[in-house]
Amino acid sequence: MIGVFDSGHGGLTVLQALTQRLPSEAFTYLGDHGNAPYGPRPEEEIYALTLAAVEDLFAEGCRLVLLACNTASAIALRRLQQDWLPAAAPERRVLGVFVPMVEALTAVSWRDGTPVPKRVAEDGMVAVFATQRTIHSGAYPFEIGLRAPRMRVVSQTCPHLVAAIEADEAEAVLRELVEGYVAEMLEQTEGRVPAAAVLGCTHYPLVAHLFAAALPASVRLLDQPSLVADSLADYLARHQRFAAGPGEAGTRRFLTSGDPTRISAFASRFIGAEVCFERA
Ligand code: DGL
Repeated sequence: MIGVFDSGHGGLTVLQALTQRLPSEAFTYLGDHGNAPYGPRPEEEIYALTLAAVEDLFAEGCRLVLLACNTASAIALRRLQQDWLPAAAPERRVLGVFVPMVEALTAVSWRDGTPVPKRVAEDGMVAVFATQRTIHSGAYPFEIGLRAPRMRVVSQTCPHLVAAIEADEAEAVLRELVEGYVAEMLEQTEGRVPAAAVLGCTHYPLVAHLFAAALPASVRLLDQPSLVADSLADYLARHQRFAAGPGEAGTRRFLTSGDPTRISAFASRFIGAEVCFERA
């Protein structure tokens, strides 16, 4: 059983890609709707909430947990992996959503430093759009800089976008917001056009078409859910012990710290498929 964690239902965009790519794996999704959004929260709160969620998913029987939330990955992942997991559950694993993006951007494998198929020129410029906390953590430029020190990372916060998507705002409202963030990003680059853009938040794939329309045509938009799904498939191929056992293959569970009835209706609309949440 693989746990997929997000602050709310944005991570369902990642889960959708995972279930398409790995249909016979077993997934338990946990959305911390009771505490979302994480984007504006202090770091210590995000760490404590993420730790509690991972403990819950471990208690549900998950041996591998993916932090689908960029904010939780930015703030909590390294600390969980280095300071907590080795003593608390050395045989289990927690992964995040940064590695697949960083590999795609830098064309360098995270595992052993070997080159992977080149997607973006190493000395190019990339734009990262994300929540305030993800951007202020500096996690994307830091991780990219370790692999591709000459790559310039232009970081752009999108402070109102998650709330607007959650509130199901009209397309025109979302377009205006996205156009504003893209314009702010381009102001930072003094006329240079980034080679690629990362939508570094679970919710942004839902408005990827608006980013694609607002960005110059040459900018390559990386699709985080599909990159994460490919990366997890590769990880499972190398770590068979985390793959689904015969009795659990293909199962899906949805847990929430919020109100399951309200969240189920909202999430079903959000991803365009019936989703039934239980109370975590
Ligand atoms: N899931 C968060 C992320 O990917 C976005 C929503 C939030 O702010 O909690 O950064």
